[in-house]
Amino acid sequence: MLRSARRLPGGSVARAAVVAAALLSSLSRGSPPEPPEPAASPLSPYFGTKTRYEDAEPGLRRDPRLLGEACRPLQLVALIRHGTRLPTARQVARLRQLQALVRRPDAEPEPEPEWSRPGADGQLVERGRQDMRRLAGRLARLFPALLGRRHAGRLRALSSSKPRCVDSGVAFLQGLWRHHHPGEPAPGPADMEYGPLEINDKLMRFFDHCEKFLTEVEGNATALHHVEAFKTGPEMQNVLNKVAATLQVPVSSLNADLIQVAFFACSFDLAIRGVKSPWCDVFDIEDAKVLEYLNDLKQYWKRAYGYAINSRSSCGLFQDIFRHMDKAVEQKQRSQPVSSPAILQFGHAETLLPLLSLMGYFKDKEPLTAHNYKEQLHRKFRSGRIVPYASNLIFVLYHCENARTPREEFQVQLLLNEKVLPLARSQDTVCLYEDLKEHYKDILQGCHATEECESPRLNSTSDEL
Ligand SMILES: *[C@@H]1O[C@H](CO)[C@@H](O)[C@H](O)[C@H]1NC(C)=O
Repeated sequence: MLRSARRLPGGSVARAAVVAAALLSSLSRGSPPEPPEPAASPLSPYFGTKTRYEDAEPGLRRDPRLLGEACRPLQLVALIRHGTRLPTARQVARLRQLQALVRRPDAEPEPEPEWSRPGADGQLVERGRQDMRRLAGRLARLFPALLGRRHAGRLRALSSSKPRCVDSGVAFLQGLWRHHHPGEPAPGPADMEYGPLEINDKLMRFFDHCEKFLTEVEGNATALHHVEAFKTGPEMQNVLNKVAATLQVPVSSLNADLIQVAFFACSFDLAIRGVKSPWCDVFDIEDAKVLEYLNDLKQYWKRAYGYAINSRSSCGLFQDIFRHMDKAVEQKQRSQPVSSPAILQFGHAETLLPLLSLMGYFKDKEPLTAHNYKEQLHRKFRSGRIVPYASNLIFVLYHCENARTPREEFQVQLLLNEKVLPLARSQDTVCLYEDLKEHYKDILQGCHATEECESPRLNSTSDEL
């Protein structure tokens, strides 16, 4: 097979054609039930939203310090991004284009990959189920009082309607079940004692329901102009030239989208199969940083601080979280059992990023633009650190009995990817529930998703009423 491959300058074999074929057919084979411990690549920290959970903070132990002694967890509300998934249909189409580009004319046609069948688009893979089961096990150990077996019937789980999210929710619940029934085979979703997984796109895919976001950002050809400008800017051109030389193809046959999918090919093989694709060797760290920035730019303008509506559209979800906590506080004050000790919500990176932006996290002093790549090298907004696969944001509500004052207290801690997330303003690692509500008063009281999301066109008709 190698005989048919191109020769690289310096005598090494450009395996690009073989690589592309291997990549495409390997994805089609699916994954073994429990993949072996995955390979690593120095490019891993730069995969943005395609980052594996364990690569988001390499070397860091996920062992959050919870409040002890006087405080006991009363409720947790978790927002969880789906686990590792297959490429989307659009990415598959680009992978094909890339494969055609590096394939020799006389090479045999590739077999139709399995993931090109209808419905495979973006599906959760076995590795993604494993992400969820493991997360469930760790959270059950961390919060035995909330995710314990005796609470199983009171657990609330809801999900975006996308199959990768529903499948993530089911895998998470199976992980919990396994935690509570070690050694027993996990039953099907219907036979676990947990309640059904509710579908709620209004909460988990609020962006699809926000008219203003859809017209001004999602469906607006110029809203992401910084992303488009960066694709043709000097940093990207440099990467194009280098990759064209490595693959020995004319630079005119490449573009930023193809380069990006080649980079993702490396990330997909690492994340899905746990193997290092030869595509990983096409890029060096400098290239990876540029491609990471391209990905972050898009997230920034489409899901975060770029436009106010990106985050404002999530305020319904934010308020819903506080409604759960309000209810738990009220029940506790009346000495009633908390009706939902754990609320698990399965969504997308696009669910988490707007919410974290609404709360003021990972905001850099200057916006990310097409022209300040160098100035932003040390930015806070790095989507691979914030929303890798299986990323999770957890609100932990505690009930504290303070010996010094007779008053009982409710406190809140936030965990992002199982690490304590200090409060956006004070950097405190915990705060009184009342103070948190005060801090976010404007969002809790002054943001009404339906009004925020009205597009100007709708506004003008309401003026006439
Ligand atoms: C599209 O985005 C551009 C850039 O932000 C903005 O100026 C324009 O008003 C937007 N168009 C619509 C229809 O919202």
